[in-house]
Amino acid sequence: MTDRELIAVAFDAMRRAYTPYSHHQVGAALLTRSGKVYAGCNIENAAFSPTVCAERTAFFKAVYDGERAFDKIAVVGGLDGIVTDYFSPCGVCRQVMSEFCEDDFSVIIAKSEDDYLVKTLNDLLSCRFSPQHLVDNPQNNNIC
Ligand code: THU
Repeated sequence: MTDRELIAVAFDAMRRAYTPYSHHQVGAALLTRSGKVYAGCNIENAAFSPTVCAERTAFFKAVYDGERAFDKIAVVGGLDGIVTDYFSPCGVCRQVMSEFCEDDFSVIIAKSEDDYLVKTLNDLLSCRFSPQHLVDNPQNNNIC
């Protein structure tokens, strides 16, 4: 699966966003190591805090299906689904990525299939709190 193809899936996913409050539509496409793609959109809620981001929708669908190893994710978004700029994943979604992904997991932040940035999870959330911090092993005390 090329970056272009993954971005195209993210654009399709964005069209499914439920965004009556912010009108910011976001789409994500997550590629598993086994080669499957899980798409996600943001789903808002009148109580606001139950809103879930596109990236987490994609991750949670994949994890529910038994997938726990991931290669890359493409993310696109914009007001009313019009993408004019790069849409960078929020901190909560970065933390969810951190649960399942290694430092070199690629996050493709796209304006279009031809115009995109590729960041690593480590770029986006260096020195992060990860599952390793909960392991009772003194060697893990200095992960940063
Ligand atoms: N949103 C995402 O889907 N992903 C992010 O990484 C950041 C924000 C959504 C949540 C909300 O529906 C809208 O964008 C505006 O914050």
